[in-house]
Amino acid sequence: MTTTPRKIRKAVFPVAGLGTRFLPATKAVPKEMLTVVDKPVIQYAVEEAAEAGIEHFVFVTGRGKGAIEDHFDIAYELEATLKARGKTAEIAQLEATRPAAGAASFVRQQEPLGLGHAVWCARDIVGNEPFALALPDMLIHGPRGCFAQMMDVYARHGGNVIAVEEVPHEHVNRYGVVALAGDLGNATHRISGMVEKPKLEDAPSNLIVSGRYILQPEIFAKLETQKPGAGGEIQLTDAMIALMAGQDFFSYRFEGTTYDCGDKIGYLAANVALALARPDIAPKFRPVLEKLTRE
Ligand code: UTP
Repeated sequence: MTTTPRKIRKAVFPVAGLGTRFLPATKAVPKEMLTVVDKPVIQYAVEEAAEAGIEHFVFVTGRGKGAIEDHFDIAYELEATLKARGKTAEIAQLEATRPAAGAASFVRQQEPLGLGHAVWCARDIVGNEPFALALPDMLIHGPRGCFAQMMDVYARHGGNVIAVEEVPHEHVNRYGVVALAGDLGNATHRISGMVEKPKLEDAPSNLIVSGRYILQPEIFAKLETQKPGAGGEIQLTDAMIALMAGQDFFSYRFEGTTYDCGDKIGYLAANVALALARPDIAPKFRPVLEKLTRE
């Protein structure tokens, strides 16, 4: 069944995970608020969604994640103080991070039962319309945002669109892995199957799901009846496999580099790569980095 493309207006950001790989940093600070250069990780994903035309931002939060709500709100005293001091550039920076009034929603996942469960918690806010989903840990850096690229694929094919990328075969057991059917051109394939964290010998390819999705709302009914899967968590992958029986799924090999900021090495790499990509920082940072790597 081919679904007629309907406009994607909302993006969901699941941010209720415990971030255990970053303890003790994440004891009191949400891991999504850890900074890459000078912006929190979550802001990169929100900006990528805004670039793609997303109008409403849905955050699935949990206990101790209040800093994320504050980050996307007005910091009244701070902004009044900056204004009094004539700090117009800083005020403009803060204003640019803020969704319009009423354009952000926050819903709580009371228990971290898995990514699939977190997405399901957004069902009432998303309603009966297709939506974008971003795992903010996966910071994607490139000349054009991953979501903007995916919107083009969605406009051509409709259905469900999953961003994928190659990883070395020995890493496939950490991710959701897709099996491909037909090549549709423009780095797009039809997906014939998917498996979450497969054993190396069972992986259908070395193409992993990279944390960006365009999904049809029927996914919520599949999530509702999902039993815990890999790791005892309610898995989004299992619900997508169930939905595949009746709907089209397409993979898209986006242009850009992914940094897994939920992992220490990926997070450090993101900081270095994005600092080197910043004209205001790179000239001063490069010599420091060269000195450090020589020692
Ligand atoms: P991860 O498994 O990478 O996040 O989930 P985590 O559980 O916070 O990390 P570790 O392993 O303990 O360090 C991927 C995304 O799904 C969200 C996370 O916040 C992250 O954005 N998530 C995961 C939820 O919102 N709820 C969950 O129950 C699980």
